[in-house]
Order: sequence, then C-alpha cells, then structure tokens
Amino acid sequence: MPIFRGPILNPQSENQCNFYKDGGVLVGDDGKIEAVGDFDSIEETRGEVTEITDGVIVPAFVDVHVHMPQNHVRGQFAGQLLPWLQNCIWPEEAGFRDPRVADEKAKKFYQDLAGQGTLLSLVYATIHEHALHSTFAHKIGDTIAGNVLMDENSPDYLSQSTEEAIAITERCAREYGEHFAVTPRFAPTCTMELMMAVGEIARQYRTWIQSHLSENLDEVKWVSELFPDCDSYTDVYQKAGLLSPRTIMAHCIHLSDEELDILKETGTKIAHCPTSNIALGSGRMPVEKIRKWGIPFALGSDVGAGPSLSLLHVMQKYMEQHAEANVEATPQDALYRATLAGAELLDRGDKMGNLDIGKEANLVIVKTDEQPKDAEGAIRDIVSGSMEELEGKVEKVYFQGKEVV
Ligand code: GUN
Ligand code: FE
Repeated sequence: MPIFRGPILNPQSENQCNFYKDGGVLVGDDGKIEAVGDFDSIEETRGEVTEITDGVIVPAFVDVHVHMPQNHVRGQFAGQLLPWLQNCIWPEEAGFRDPRVADEKAKKFYQDLAGQGTLLSLVYATIHEHALHSTFAHKIGDTIAGNVLMDENSPDYLSQSTEEAIAITERCAREYGEHFAVTPRFAPTCTMELMMAVGEIARQYRTWIQSHLSENLDEVKWVSELFPDCDSYTDVYQKAGLLSPRTIMAHCIHLSDEELDILKETGTKIAHCPTSNIALGSGRMPVEKIRKWGIPFALGSDVGAGPSLSLLHVMQKYMEQHAEANVEATPQDALYRATLAGAELLDRGDKMGNLDIGKEANLVIVKTDEQPKDAEGAIRDIVSGSMEELEGKVEKVYFQGKEVV
C-alpha cells in the first residue's frame, strides 16, 4: 500500500492543526487513509514510499464559492460589483450559449482548479442548461454546482423567462440531486416568484442553495428599492424560503445584527471571499461578528472577481485583510477555513477536509522554502510570496490516493 513520507499538516479546527515533522500517511487499496502520524509509528512498511523532501503534505483544498464561466477572465477587470458584472462579466457568460465553448471552458476550469489542489468545490455555471451538464462532465474530485438563475434586470443576451428558469432547475435537481445547488444569481436578477419556486424545488429534491448576499453597498441599496416590502436584503431570501442549513451565501459584508440573527436562526452558512472583496473594493467581512454569532464559514476564491483559484492566495489575503483591521486570523485558522471548514459546510466533513483515518486520501504536496519546524511556520511558509509564486507551489495532487496532477 502506498505511503507518503514527509512533513504533514493535518487541520483539526480553527485553533488546532496537527503537525508531523517526519510524518507518514498510509493509503489503503480503497483510497482511504489507514494511518497518519509520525513516520516511525506507521506499522505497515510494505508498499511504495513516496518521499517528500522539499514540501509539505496538506489535505486537498475546498473552494466554497467559484464561478466556472469566469475562470478565463479571472482578475482581468477592475471596478465595483455592479458595473463589473454588467460591463465585464455578463458578456463573457453569454458566450457559454455555444455548447462547444461551455464544454471546453468547463474542462479547463476543473484542470486549473485541481492544478491548484482543490478537489471539492461549490460552483456557479451559467444560465445555460448544457453548461451545467458540461460542468459535471469534467469534474475532478467532488463538486456541487448549479445553473445560474436570471429572470429580471438582466441583459437580453443573458436572460431567461421565469418558466424556463424553473423548468431547467427542476430537471437538473432531479438529475443531480445532492450534487445540485439551486443558484439564484442574487436577488436583483431574480423575481420573488422564481426564488420561491426554486426554494420549493430545493426542499423537494434535498439539494443545496447558493447565492450572493450583501456584497456591495450599491447592491444593498438596489435590493431595498426592488423589494420595498422586505425589511432587509437577508429578509428577501428568507421570505423566498431560500435560507436553510443547506444554504451557502457568499460575502455577507454589510449585514445588520438582525440579519445575522436570521442567518444564525436558519442555519445558513457563509462563503467568505477575501481576495474578491479586495479586488472589487467591496469591503471586509466582519469575521469577528460572524464568529460571535457562531455562523459557520469557509473560504472561497470567487473567481473571476477573485484573481486566482489558489486557496493559498485566498488564505494569505484572509490573514492580511483581517490583520489590517486588527482582527486576528491565525495561520491555523486560515488552513482550517480552506480545507475542513469547507468540507463541513458541504456536509462532507466525515469523508474529506483533512487527513484523519478513514477519510479519502485527497492530498496535496505543497513546496516549501525551508524545512518546516511547526504548524504555524509551515503554514506561513506555504502562504508566502506573490500570487504567481503561490500558484506555482502545488507540486502534486492525489484524489482518493491516485495522482490527478
Ligand atoms: N453577484 C452577482 N453575481 C456575481 C458574480 O458573478 N460575482 C460576484 N462576485 N458577485 C456577484
Ligand atoms: Fe461570486
């Protein structure tokens, strides 16, 4: 049975990350982890040993918010959310009406994602049904995805009728079930009628729900004008029946205490995307409040607003952005948020997210500059450098014990 030997980081919680300087991971024939710890403690010594001499073994990353059709233009445009969507992003997504374009780009997306060590993701496709099929057809690792819904305030070239949006959602929910996410783009591009109908579909087929919430102040103002009968942006989604323990809302930057109460009460979870928030000048998610309210959150790249699929880059900016506001985000916490927290958010914490015995051997070899001495030092090492340097740090990626990159 294969054994990986080298320094190992095994995140356990926001406060704790196990570290083995000369560690071993023993992988069974079923692709699951049979032993992990100091190399000397691994009793099984038959089988091939893969030695890691200039890197560290970490669990595969989890990205809980990423847009497949924006991968080819990630980080290319500037501007705040609404003009960025209208002028830069929606014209690009419209190109996915061509099934060949959608298929090619979906394939490249998962190759790029796995190339950065991400083997579990929560993905937005486009409004086009075939683009969602292509998304699932090319997945590497495990993925949850949904067709984007836009039946209001959307350009003619990227819009659908309410009936069409519901029909596509129902067909895809039936086909993909627990791998499917009902995906209203955000309240401004969806009618209440559509949001209520797809909320019902999510309950019927036990699917996930994902959307954007309170990312940008102009967006928040627009929502209050569009939905004058609702108390807040969060209340729009609550009235639509979209908030639940299987709902992941991205951003959640400009929320009132009452809105945080609603998220907590409904069991809703948050995708935190610091690189995107910096790029679009959206603001800083008040992580200290999210922690105080006890709302679960994990990291997402939000490519293409986020400029990179590298969760190492997202971790780096997570630590930096909050530190600048004198709010602590430790290296151990950053690694947890980029791995196990995401697996837990997506109900896969028993199978993925870290290197505990019995979980899938989904692991990444990340290059280090120095021989790591402890968990904190090892994590600081792997998140140091420019974005391009971080993107070059993933050396090998294994899914269920088999090399995929
Ligand atoms: N809000 C609605 N659509 C989008 C999107 O594609 N990216 C981001 N960052 N925010 C959104
Ligand atoms: Fe997004």
